[in-house]
Amino acid sequence: TVGDSSNIVWHKSSVEKSDREELLNQKGCVIWITGLSGSGKSTLACALSHALHARGKLSYILDGDNCRRGLNSDLSFKAEDRAENIRRIGEVAKLFADSGVICIASLISPYRKDRDACRALLPGGDFIEVYMDVSLQLCETRDPKGLYKLARAGKIKGFTGVDDPYEPPLNSEIVLSQREKMCDSPSALAEIVISYLERKGYL
Ligand code: PPS
Repeated sequence: TVGDSSNIVWHKSSVEKSDREELLNQKGCVIWITGLSGSGKSTLACALSHALHARGKLSYILDGDNCRRGLNSDLSFKAEDRAENIRRIGEVAKLFADSGVICIASLISPYRKDRDACRALLPGGDFIEVYMDVSLQLCETRDPKGLYKLARAGKIKGFTGVDDPYEPPLNSEIVLSQREKMCDSPSALAEIVISYLERKGYL
């Protein structure tokens, strides 16, 4: 039957995660950036990837918006499709982390249980949740893609924060709060994440 993996045997490779990590001189992990649309997830992901690259560290971004053009092009924004979007990105991110890469997943991921299911895929602290704690009001003021305006006009239904839920994380490893209009620069925020990675021995 479809989805039945009971007769599948895991094929082990002779080159292990630790070998790849030694080669890359870093530890593979997933940095999961969650927050409302317009909270700066993709901007942080890019700044972080840039800063890591400058330090000679290998990272790769899995962006919700971008993945919805390919891997997840069959999925809508209803709750079960968002869950599937998050599940797939979580599984792909896990593979990247196993390859030794610092995988940066940036997607709204509005439901706590979906995020926690991804966390459970990566035991041992290798799932690092970064919460972009930016108020709806500020995201809406920014409205970089004009989507809040469309949602308020009823032209987009089920838009996160407007007429669809966002469950803020309760125990994120990193919370980046930006309640004022004057926000920290993306590179300053990236440095906060980099310090965490250094402290925990990922870099
Ligand atoms: S989710 O909830 O994690 O599955 O969403 P994600 O894959 O990150 O995709 C969010 C981007 O899709 C655009 N968009 C919407 N967002 C929220 N709700 C609705 N209904 C919606 N429709 C389209 C929007 O550009 C999101 O991008 P970001 O980068 O978050 O602004």
